[in-house]
Amino acid sequence: MNQSIDFEKSHFIKNIWNKKAQLYRRPDNWNFDLDLNEISSITLEEESISRLIKIPDNNLHNLEYTQGPFNEEELTSLSPNIPWSIMVQNLEQYLPDLNVIKDKFNFIPEDLREDIMGVICGPNGSTGPHIDQYSVFIIPISGKKTWSLESKINSVEEFNNRLIPHDDLKILRNFKSNTTFTIGLDEFLYIPPGLAHHAVSDELSLSLSYGVKTPRVQIILDVLYTKVIERIHEDERLKVSLNKDGILNFKEINEVSRLLEVLLNQNNMNIDEVIKEARLWEGY
Ligand SMILES: [Fe+2]
Repeated sequence: MNQSIDFEKSHFIKNIWNKKAQLYRRPDNWNFDLDLNEISSITLEEESISRLIKIPDNNLHNLEYTQGPFNEEELTSLSPNIPWSIMVQNLEQYLPDLNVIKDKFNFIPEDLREDIMGVICGPNGSTGPHIDQYSVFIIPISGKKTWSLESKINSVEEFNNRLIPHDDLKILRNFKSNTTFTIGLDEFLYIPPGLAHHAVSDELSLSLSYGVKTPRVQIILDVLYTKVIERIHEDERLKVSLNKDGILNFKEINEVSRLLEVLLNQNNMNIDEVIKEARLWEGY
């Protein structure tokens, strides 16, 4: 990993965003005095959203995944002998000072902004090597973590072959990385979508992660479909031309595709509305 640099908006947008990982020097107003116990106790609250990952024997095939809220006993029984990590969503709702992180990236459209997640790890704790299909900023708060990055996995086939079967998580097998690094407490890291990464905590640690998410293309297509379909009269039918062989011609379907393009390009198709609706459908 290269040396950290100062965050400069236009450089970030042009050279880094969606392209490569980059370490940055942290802004002066990002000195957060966060208490690990205070953050882990959020997971006791009924309306909190949290997850716990345990990896007995550091074997990813033994990974145990539980969703919160948790009870006192579940938290106090976490042992340094079994690597664990707790993820707590929506931290800025509990700790509004954290909104300065979002403010720093106020050029990112509001509909793409995710919440701030806290990740608490015990010794050797990790969330497993994985890929996020969205951009993420990592801000370490306390404790040391060893990070490694792989090259981007561009093929869907390779990605699927590498996944360890799990209903909720997309953990990668055969994670290989030549270099490891740490993120200083005066630094933060940007990770682009699709870049496999792995962070293992050397000791008890807390880091924050701020994601920038775009909806799944499949969902956007679904939303566009419903928006377009309501502009066509239900009685309108496909017009086909006849030919002497009695075979349907594909050009008629092309005509429908053309109509779709015309409808999509109409000025009143609002991109913000489409993204908002896609997020609602996807439930995040
Ligand atoms: Fe991640």
